[in-house]
Amino acid sequence: MEQYIVRGGNPLIGEVDIYGAKNAALALIPAAILTDEPVIIDNLPDVSDINVMLDAIAHIGATVQRINRHKVKIIGATVSSHAIDDDYIRKIRASYYLLGSLLGRYREAEVAMPGGCVIGARPIDQHIKGFEALGAKVDLDGGQVKAKAQELIGNHIYFDVVSVGATINVLLAAVLAEGNTIIENPAKEPHVVDLASMLNSMGARIRGAGTDVIRIKGVSKLHGTEYTVIPDQIEAGTFMFAAAVTGGDVTVNNVIPKHLESITSKLKDIGCRVEEYDEAVRVIADKRLKSTRVKTMPYPGFPTDMQPQIGVALALAEGTSTITENIFENRFKYVAELVRMGAKIKVESNTAIITGVEKLKGAKVSAPDLRAGAALVLAALSADGVSQVDGLQYIKRGYENFSGKLRKLGADIKKVNIDENSSAARIV
Ligand code: EPZ
Repeated sequence: MEQYIVRGGNPLIGEVDIYGAKNAALALIPAAILTDEPVIIDNLPDVSDINVMLDAIAHIGATVQRINRHKVKIIGATVSSHAIDDDYIRKIRASYYLLGSLLGRYREAEVAMPGGCVIGARPIDQHIKGFEALGAKVDLDGGQVKAKAQELIGNHIYFDVVSVGATINVLLAAVLAEGNTIIENPAKEPHVVDLASMLNSMGARIRGAGTDVIRIKGVSKLHGTEYTVIPDQIEAGTFMFAAAVTGGDVTVNNVIPKHLESITSKLKDIGCRVEEYDEAVRVIADKRLKSTRVKTMPYPGFPTDMQPQIGVALALAEGTSTITENIFENRFKYVAELVRMGAKIKVESNTAIITGVEKLKGAKVSAPDLRAGAALVLAALSADGVSQVDGLQYIKRGYENFSGKLRKLGADIKKVNIDENSSAARIV
């Protein structure tokens, strides 16, 4: 089992290059099989979620040619099956985006029902509502989601809940439908806009992505394209908060500052200096952090995927802070691990009440999920003493070369292989 061994206390100093957005790439890959023509996607992060999604489309027959670690050519013409093996949906729930693209392209699709996960029940009722509004029949039987349509006709769809996944899935199904589709109350995340941009580069006619109403004029077919994934706002935010919690000075390069506005605003609230450039943001934390109140909201609000990371910062801030998690029902699992490092946090319903401490203490902690795992690494980097962080399989889902990038900024972190039958550790 792999672990990080972290000796805290080093301020992170320097520059880090941010890679492509995992949650955008997870939508762009299924979109590539909406055409028979070659689609080249560049700036893919080399993380396990992306590799699983590429395996999933290859498994149904798509041609997937790796041009390099971050660039792939996909040819959907060879797709031969419209049913996704359960294994993929168990590994990444975003495989359900293949419901939207297979339904949109072939008028039929089948994936295993995505279960909940540690952060919440994560229902898909809004996805189904969108597919049925377009004329599909959706059956949930035997743990499978089966969608089928004689024809897909554009419609006016109002989402009861702002949902990134449902917005993406309905976009994928509607671009090749007949007639016009209007989506009200869609998600406005950068990765939704990135998908719309790529689909439009393939000949789709989507307007309003990133606003409160998305309008899609169905087209009869889409053509190939060459597209570059936007930078990952959550990877960027994670490194920005790494600077904050270690009293460092870090510049994140290859970012779109506009996508980071809510993160930048909170960093300023807690006393960091933030300098914005065209494609970079610099965070300087030269004094003790201050308390604040945070509420996670759909974009452009403060992202739920940054909630554990700001939780670590507020655990070190002077005074009492609160975090209200409005998106998922169970996203405070990292708190128990932070308390083991000396944090003073109590959780009441969907709110964490945090009394800042001067320093956390190194401890053996376990990542319960992707973003909590990254946050626990940040806590270890700030702490006095040595920490062991396990659960790296979660961190690898969304961060490419995480420890390598942190080392380049001066962190004392190494990845070791712990033989579970002995305490011997081998640096990997
Ligand atoms: C996406 O998940 C992201 N995953 C999540 O990132 C992110 O936390 C989330 O959006 C919110 O930004 C990917 O993009 C692959 P939602 P998604 O549908 O699409 C409720 C990470 O760490 N809901 O926007 O599943 C749902 O229960 C991951 O990278 C319904 O009620 O999130 C939740 O409370 C974690 N019915 C809220 O909406 C539905 O049909 C937002 O969920 C769909 C969602």
